[in-house]
Amino acid sequence: MNIKDSVVVVTGAASGIGRAMARRFAADGAGTVVVADLDGDGAAAVAREIGGRAETLDVTDEDAQLAMINRTEAEWGPIELWCGNAGVASNGGLELDNKAWEFNWQVNVMAHVITGRHMIPRWVERGSGHFLITASAAGLLTNLGTAPYAVTKHGAVALAEWIAITHGDDGVRVSCLCPQGVRTPMTEADGEMAIEVVKAMGMIEPEEVADCVAAGIANDDFLILPHPEVSRYEQRRTGDRQRWLSGMRKLQATLSR
Ligand SMILES: NC(=O)c1ccc[n+]([C@@H]2O[C@H](COP(=O)([O-])OP(=O)(O)OC[C@H]3O[C@@H](n4cnc5c(N)ncnc54)[C@H](O)[C@@H]3O)[C@@H](O)[C@H]2O)c1
Repeated sequence: MNIKDSVVVVTGAASGIGRAMARRFAADGAGTVVVADLDGDGAAAVAREIGGRAETLDVTDEDAQLAMINRTEAEWGPIELWCGNAGVASNGGLELDNKAWEFNWQVNVMAHVITGRHMIPRWVERGSGHFLITASAAGLLTNLGTAPYAVTKHGAVALAEWIAITHGDDGVRVSCLCPQGVRTPMTEADGEMAIEVVKAMGMIEPEEVADCVAAGIANDDFLILPHPEVSRYEQRRTGDRQRWLSGMRKLQATLSR
C-alpha cells in the first residue's frame, strides 16, 4: 500500500517501536497518524511532535476500540492501515498465575481479534485495507524465560496467517512484524533470562524496525523480519525440531550459568 495521504492507526505508539513507526509514517506523508496508547500523555507528546492525533486507548477494551475507529473514520476518513503494535510480556513460566497469562493473552492476541472484528468487514466492503500485527520472533521460534509471551506471540502469528488466508482475496493485506531484540523500554531490564537472550542475539534500534515496516508495507509483504536471520532460524526449527530443541536447551544452559 501507499502510505501517502492515508489514515493510519498505530497502537502502543507512545513508546519504542510504535513511536518509531508513527514518526516514520508521518515523515512518509500519511494523511493522518492516530497515535493510540494506554499512556495518554505519551501518546499526546508523540502526536504533538509529528502533527498526529492522540488517543488514550486500552486495546483490550472492545467498546473503546470501536469508538476510536468510528471517531477516526468520521473525522479523518477511512482507516487504510491499522498497526496493532501494543504488546506486553510477563517474565516467567508455568508458575505465573492465570491472571498473568490472561493479561498477555488479552493484549497480545485478543486486541487484534477485536480490531479484525471491526475493521475487516469495512476493508472487505471497500476492497482494500492493511492490517499490521506486531508479533515477534518469539512467535516464530520461542522466547526463553517467558512462556506467556512466547505462547501468545505464536497466537498473534497464527491469527495474522488466518486473516491473510481468509481475507486475502477480499483485498485485505496483512503484515506480521517479527523482530528479535529491539532497544525499547520493554528490553531495558537487566538480569532477566527473557531479555538477556534477546540482547545476546543482537539488538537493533526502533528506527531500523520502522524502516523495515515502511518497506514491507510498500511491498505488501506478509512477514516483516527486521532481523533477517530469523528466517534461517525458523527453517532450522521446522526442518529438524528435535535438533532445534536441543540447541535451544544448550543456549538456555549457557545463559543460566
Ligand atoms: N522490544 C523488543 O525487543 C521487541 C521484539 C519483538 C517484538 N516486540 C513487540 O513490539 C511491540 C512494541 O513493543 P516495544 O518494544 O516498542 O515496547 P514499549 O514498552 O516501548 O512499547 C509498548 C507500548 O504499548 C503500550 N501498551 C501496553 N499495553 C497497552 C494496552 N492495553 N493498550 C494500549 N497500549 C498499550 C505501552 O503503554 C507502550 O507505550 C510489542 O508488541 C512487543 O511485544 C518487541
